[in-house]
Amino acid sequence: MKTYFVRTFGCQMNKHDSERIAGMLESELGLVEAKTPEVADVVVYNTCAVREGAEERLRGHVSSLKAAKTGDNPNVIIAVGGCIGQRDGEALLSYLPHVDVVFGTHNVGRLPALIASAHETKRTTVEVIDSATDFASDLPSIREHAWHAWLPITVGCNNFCTYCIVPYVRGRERSRQLEDIVTEAEKLVADGVVEVTLLGQNVNSYGRDLYGEPKFAEVLRRVAATGIRRVRFVTSHPKDLSDETIEVMANTPGVCHYLHLPVQSGSNRILESMNRRYTRESYLALVDRLYAAIPDLALSTDIIVGFPGETEEDFEQTLDVVRKSNLDQAFTFLYSPREGTPAATFEGAVPRDVMQQRFDRLITVVQASVYANNQRLVGSVQELLVTGTSRRDPNVITGRTDSNKVVHAPLPAGESAGSLAGRFVSVVIDEAQTWFLSGHFEG
Ligand code: 5AD
Ligand code: SF4
Repeated sequence: MKTYFVRTFGCQMNKHDSERIAGMLESELGLVEAKTPEVADVVVYNTCAVREGAEERLRGHVSSLKAAKTGDNPNVIIAVGGCIGQRDGEALLSYLPHVDVVFGTHNVGRLPALIASAHETKRTTVEVIDSATDFASDLPSIREHAWHAWLPITVGCNNFCTYCIVPYVRGRERSRQLEDIVTEAEKLVADGVVEVTLLGQNVNSYGRDLYGEPKFAEVLRRVAATGIRRVRFVTSHPKDLSDETIEVMANTPGVCHYLHLPVQSGSNRILESMNRRYTRESYLALVDRLYAAIPDLALSTDIIVGFPGETEEDFEQTLDVVRKSNLDQAFTFLYSPREGTPAATFEGAVPRDVMQQRFDRLITVVQASVYANNQRLVGSVQELLVTGTSRRDPNVITGRTDSNKVVHAPLPAGESAGSLAGRFVSVVIDEAQTWFLSGHFEG
């Protein structure tokens, strides 16, 4: 075994786990990254079970690797882990028989040993455990970008929204010790990281298990105090976002004015059936409080279309909430039944064509909101963290604003894109589209 390739599906938590997987494969097994899965000695799929689409893509990818395994690369070790590994365990082999290692969400740290065992014994190795007691925080990581780090503060979820598989595959919510988080943030700063994203399924309830009350506002304050230039966090459940957290976001330098606050639906009937534990009125009131405290806030959300029982009226209520929330971004999903969740047994399935038609209408309303907000930025000066160059033109840099918007700007004469990556620059915004802004370097 000499090389590895990791393919990631799903959320930021999985992206972070993949960075740790890469770190362990390099430090414990001495592997180096391969350019493509077809030529790698070890291929790891870190999977997502939240919606059907990611599952289908996994099957497609693993099947295409089968050709390599029966052809030029017969000794390749294929490992499948993450949420599908956790959910299916040994049963995964019934539909993907050429997989060599199955692991779950709680034993990522065991992966090098499982791969080594499959390699030595030439036998399939399956290891999935129900839960982990400790917060595996000291694993090595190979970060995708030197300047950005994911920093998990909680794992798991106690909310049991009726459509969601996460509490079953990630387990109950566990918080990491505050001092441990701060120490890691300090190390990251010393390492040159300028942007950190705090991760948790519901960061707002951070600390409830450890300290008897949520302490997310304190995490934000303490992490920002390390001097890191930008602090982001996902995800916030609307029922748990405290006024103290809003106050810290408004008044703490370094805490980005960007908030991902999934609403899921604008209908009280559907919200109740989803077990979201807030109403359209309380969501909108929260949004009002947020804009009052943070006028330049960029708000993003998640919305599910076609939840069982959703009527035209319910859907209209969702459109209404979108219109009233002044959104900067929305991730929109067609409802996908997940076996084992309560909603999978609910009556009132919405026909596919109705779902799709609502989805298209929703996108139109979301895009109008995003476009209008982007137009308001024309003429403003934005500080960008440069992330790379435009795919279309290597002389155009790409960066993100504090509010997480993508901006393109031509490189000034004498600058090289490579030396700007991970640095902050000031850009005047000249033009705004729905998906990105364009500008020029200030001065
Ligand atoms: N069907 C569709 N979308 C879902 N999500 C979670 N579970 C489902 C499902 N069964 C969406 C929610 C969540 C996001 C990560 O994925 O909007 O916020
Ligand atoms: Fe799933 Fe709800 Fe937990 Fe989010 S809060 S992970 S949607 S159960």
